[in-house]
Amino acid sequence: MKTQVGIVGAGPAGLTLALMLERAGIESVVLECRSREYVEQRVRAGLLEQNSVELLHALGVGERLTREGLEHHGIYLRHSGRTQHLRISELTGRQITIYGQQEVVKDLVAARLRNGGPLHFEVSGTAVHDTDSEHPSITYLHRGEQHELHCDVIAGCDGFHGVCRDSIPDGALTQYEFVYPFSWLGILAEAAPATDELIYAWHERGFALYSMRSPRISRLYLQVAADERIEDWSEERIWAELQTRLATEGWRVNEGPIIEKGITAMRSFVCEPLRHGRLFLLGDAAHIVPPTGAKGLNLALNDVRLLAAALTSWYLDGSGEALDAYSETALRRVWQAQDFSNYMTQLLHDLGGGPFQRRLQLARLDQLTRSEAAARSLAENYVGLPATPDF
Ligand code: FAD
Ligand code: DHB
Repeated sequence: MKTQVGIVGAGPAGLTLALMLERAGIESVVLECRSREYVEQRVRAGLLEQNSVELLHALGVGERLTREGLEHHGIYLRHSGRTQHLRISELTGRQITIYGQQEVVKDLVAARLRNGGPLHFEVSGTAVHDTDSEHPSITYLHRGEQHELHCDVIAGCDGFHGVCRDSIPDGALTQYEFVYPFSWLGILAEAAPATDELIYAWHERGFALYSMRSPRISRLYLQVAADERIEDWSEERIWAELQTRLATEGWRVNEGPIIEKGITAMRSFVCEPLRHGRLFLLGDAAHIVPPTGAKGLNLALNDVRLLAAALTSWYLDGSGEALDAYSETALRRVWQAQDFSNYMTQLLHDLGGGPFQRRLQLARLDQLTRSEAAARSLAENYVGLPATPDF
């Protein structure tokens, strides 16, 4: 079997890349190890930058997003029972949209299948070969049959635990990593959000975040110890902790049945470069940010935008210039997002540095209300720096 671009992974990165290439008349095959049901149900991100929304619209998959997405123009920062409103749209002229990652994935899968593009779920034993030659290939097992897919290039969109990055020989990649000494416990609950915009809360007992998925579904997060076990968190304990950390006078978090819960480690990770010969890395396969800045999904889509444009000019104009620049260009935004995600994490979490460090965080939060320059800097990064061919 032969294709132009072999795509490993049908997360947001792999699926979006396949659709962008389709539009340029470039063939691809998408290989995913999980089932369609699994990828469509996996609860993860929920906040889309305007850049991401525009990209999805340009691909013709923005119809449900327009109908069901919640447009937000600011966020609340809460500490010591006080709430500051950060007017993101006023400060930047741009907005954010709340729409679950699994909804994005459902829309992308439906579009790919509707267009008749190859997308194979439940493949196993995926391995990439000869990536430093002009004839790379992917081998895998699908429906009991072994396959070999010959490609011009391979796109590694297989997430942090995928096989593509690990196939690159030792010494060809530099990896930068920082693991935070705490995790996030996230829940999805059948409860109407008691807030119109997201609340990021600093609290002595640790960070909490009030987000949502729809007018009937809330999404909430708590900072917990790195070794915390989800079994130790009953519904009662989770709600009590959320009520404490998000508390402000005359107001409560709306409670309801918890329909999903899980614990996620907090990590910053970047590998460089994002290319080895004919293998390109995109999204979580190449970089992870702590979720506080809501950048992971948005960065993945930005990598796709850049690589799709580069492959298009390689195939259609015969120019390899943008392809050669892909890694450096994509990494520029990745490092900006790393810095911002680290800043948001350090601003709001109990980092274990004691009372002095906690007072410094409160001073920073205070500065965000007093200085428009400080507020604008946060807002510009949060809403997403404009997408250009070189960034
Ligand atoms: P993934 O979504 O991980 O997709 C990779 C795919 O590859 C998967 O489907 C996987 O099954 C498949 N795969 C893996 N190995 C193989 C293999 N060997 N063969 C074939 N297929 C394989 N980001 C934001 O922007 N905003 C947020 O608000 C936000 N909140 C988050 C909250 C949580 C709790 C978590 C965990 C993450 C959050 N993120 C957020 C991050 C975001 O979810 C990820 O950055 C995003 O999923 C990256 O997409 P991806 O396509 O690169 O990788
Ligand atoms: C969500 C997750 C985040 O990490 C964030 O910063 C904002 C929103 C969410 O899942 O809704």
